[in-house]
Amino acid sequence: MLPYTSMITINKESQMPLFIQITNGIIKQVIRGRIKPGLKLPGSRIMAEQLGVHRNTVINSYEELESQGWLTAVPAKGNFINKTLPIVKEIINTTTVKTNILESSNFHFTNGKTISEMGLLKTKSYDLNFDDGCPDVRIAPIKSFAKHYKSLLNSTSKHKFDYSSDLSGNKDLKTVLINHLSETRGINVEPDNLLITRGSLMGFYLLFKNLLLPNDNVIVGKLNYKPVNQIIKDFGGNLVPVTIDEEGLNVDEIEQICKKQKIRAVYVIPHHHHPTTVSLSCARRMKLLILAKKYNFAIIEDDYDFDFHYKNSPILPLMSSDENGSVVYTGSFSKSLAPAFRIGYLVAPKNVIEKLTYSRRYIDRQGDMLMEQTLAMMIEEGELKRHLRKALIIYKNRRNHFCSLLKSELNGIVSFKIPEGGLTVWTQFDKSIDLIKLVNEAKKKSLFMVNPIDYNLNVNEIYFSRLGFASMNENELSKSVEILKKTIHKQV
Ligand SMILES: Cc1ncc(COP(=O)(O)O)c(C=O)c1O
Repeated sequence: MLPYTSMITINKESQMPLFIQITNGIIKQVIRGRIKPGLKLPGSRIMAEQLGVHRNTVINSYEELESQGWLTAVPAKGNFINKTLPIVKEIINTTTVKTNILESSNFHFTNGKTISEMGLLKTKSYDLNFDDGCPDVRIAPIKSFAKHYKSLLNSTSKHKFDYSSDLSGNKDLKTVLINHLSETRGINVEPDNLLITRGSLMGFYLLFKNLLLPNDNVIVGKLNYKPVNQIIKDFGGNLVPVTIDEEGLNVDEIEQICKKQKIRAVYVIPHHHHPTTVSLSCARRMKLLILAKKYNFAIIEDDYDFDFHYKNSPILPLMSSDENGSVVYTGSFSKSLAPAFRIGYLVAPKNVIEKLTYSRRYIDRQGDMLMEQTLAMMIEEGELKRHLRKALIIYKNRRNHFCSLLKSELNGIVSFKIPEGGLTVWTQFDKSIDLIKLVNEAKKKSLFMVNPIDYNLNVNEIYFSRLGFASMNENELSKSVEILKKTIHKQV
């Protein structure tokens, strides 16, 4: 008799009735060729004993198999797998048969990078998180979100649930966002200059897909936000790395490069550079705009965490001073509210928006209209502004608390500049510390730190880590630093 116990997986906790699980298990084995056409199945009593289920369960399963045409019940003889079924696969070795036939395609498929090779993805949740700069979702205005979302769901207006003609984003959101951009960032544009995206990454993806020709040069920081580097490479672009110093991206270097080769775009994170948090100086901002005009390159301005600047009021984006159509500006609500909202936006000259809207149409026809409408209502009623005011104070206090802990508890072990904005501290560890080992040891104590390898650091820079402080309250920050301290002392 075949080893049915190992061939048919039964999960008594599952919502799926047991007789269906047995039915599916038998069908799977017939398809794989382990149970062959014409084979007599054990009697219901014996099968029930083997599988550890009630006999009626097996009887129900056999009846189901018969009604589906897999089995023929011959009176007084027993139950036989239907002889007319084609044999699909021979048994080769019963112990090596895979439990999941969907692991790899039977057709040729691209060999490029896969999602599992990406860094920065957390595969497990930790009690404490020095994440990559996430907001504290516990303080997000969920109640006001729920209130508006519910009112939409209760709405009798049919068109809210229909295919929409607002292919570049919800009209109401675009209207309020234009005011918001003007009030907060000095960016004065029209609805046709705006594309709502599901987070800024989608904006970069659409943009580089349409902007780049094979081997186009794109200037990026030597240290840079890794997903954007990957998008540029995926669309055939060449990365041209430029130094980042205490004034941000080195614009003089950019000028020298432009004199020698054609540059299609410069990707810049001027407000709080990722990963170093440094702000681009005013002089460099102005020079970059001049160079963009002179050498006709696009400035891709990533302003993902505009709202959190602690030193003074936020520095106005490059876009607010651009009169030549050189800048494409991207923003996001991932940090302002919570990453799960998945709403970002891209501001650009109209021809760019039209093309990107065309591209987006096939992967995300109209975005998430209900989510976008809800956000529009939150902005309209001043709830976003109130939340941002509150969050800024909370994060500033956390930054101060965290930086003083780093100073007092890890004196001589770490060095850093207090960040003027953003949600992380770019921290240099003493060279005697094996940072990769430290990250792994901390994880065992349920403290997450990003692996420094994910920042594309050179071997001589592997002593840096970007420690996110905003998603933890003061108490959690203290605990995290304590764990860090103990783990470091074990090493030295
Ligand atoms: C520099 C930078 N740009 C863009 C993003 C992406 O944000 P979004 O969630 O809007 O795609 C992040 C996320 O952390 C980021 O660090």
